[in-house]
Amino acid sequence: MQALLAAPDVAGGIRFADVPEPVPSPHQVLVDVRHASVNSGEVRHLELQPAGAVLGYDAAGYVVRTAEDGTGPGVGERVVAFGIGAWGRRAVFGTDSVAVVPASLDLAAAAALPLVGMTALRTLRAVGSVLGRRVLVTGAAGGVGRLAVQLARLGGAHVIASVGSARRIDGLAALGADEVVVGLDAVDAPVDVIIENVGGAHLVTAWGLLKPGGSLQSVGWVSGEPAVFPPNSTFALGPAKTLQSFGDASNPGPDLAVLVDLAARGTIKPEVGWRGSWERIGDAIQALIGRKVAGKVVIDLDDTAGSHPR
Ligand SMILES: NC(=O)c1ccc[n+]([C@@H]2O[C@H](COP(=O)([O-])OP(=O)(O)OC[C@H]3O[C@@H](n4cnc5c(N)ncnc54)[C@H](OP(=O)(O)O)[C@@H]3O)[C@@H](O)[C@H]2O)c1
Repeated sequence: MQALLAAPDVAGGIRFADVPEPVPSPHQVLVDVRHASVNSGEVRHLELQPAGAVLGYDAAGYVVRTAEDGTGPGVGERVVAFGIGAWGRRAVFGTDSVAVVPASLDLAAAAALPLVGMTALRTLRAVGSVLGRRVLVTGAAGGVGRLAVQLARLGGAHVIASVGSARRIDGLAALGADEVVVGLDAVDAPVDVIIENVGGAHLVTAWGLLKPGGSLQSVGWVSGEPAVFPPNSTFALGPAKTLQSFGDASNPGPDLAVLVDLAARGTIKPEVGWRGSWERIGDAIQALIGRKVAGKVVIDLDDTAGSHPR
């Protein structure tokens, strides 16, 4: 089967190759992958992947072999999945890492959900109820950001979406942001919760905006900058402020089911800002890293899908 592999020895660090189809273990299904998404972290840190590994984590397609242990979806079911090796025409996933996609949800839209959706969902859950609380989302124009804005709004928060430049504000108010700001200078009052995707100086400034008792969920470090905290800036009178790391992608199935259900009902919108054939993976990565994508990049592995840049 065709797959996109980690290739540290070639320009761009990725190559197409014919590789053997993966063989499922007893608790895994074999999926015919039609669409996959490209995540910021996986393409910024390609060097962390062993040479020859099939890349990608987010997939959507059709089950072509059920799990031997009798768990999970049946042959022909449309599924979304999270796990290593999503950028291959066939991929195996544990039955705890897939969810059936309702007929009303486009498979390509479903492919946009796994990693960013779980991240937004789980970091917001970690802070408890956001009803009536001020939630700041940094890097809000990106994949995690656009879903965090929608889920925080769904939870009843006053949502402040922070983007890198004025040209990136489009669509965020329609997704539920009460305020859309460029950078952090315009955040005019302390916040209860921060979903922080940028790192570096952004993280330090955001920390200063957090109320006593508030929680900063440190999701990403897309700026690549160091964060230098001024002396005493981690001291606060009153209830403790917390900075919490995030990296929990365990047992994704139930949360994938929550996300596809919300998307199928139109409660959240998976935003696909770039879509095209997987043969254009280089263009896809350039668009993402070049901060030109509103939301997610989705690649079509289906040979008949053609190219649909948006
Ligand atoms: N901890 C985890 O398990 C986990 C899970 C998922 C993602 N992540 C990480 O979370 C981060 C966000 O992921 P994503 O998928 O949302 O990425 P994304 O789609 O690439 O979005 C990142 C956003 O960050 C902004 N940005 C980029 N460089 C910036 C800079 N130098 N200064 C300020 N803003 C900058 C961009 O803003 P503009 O568009 O406004 O220019 C972009 O919209 C990444 O670092 C990713 O690796 C971590």
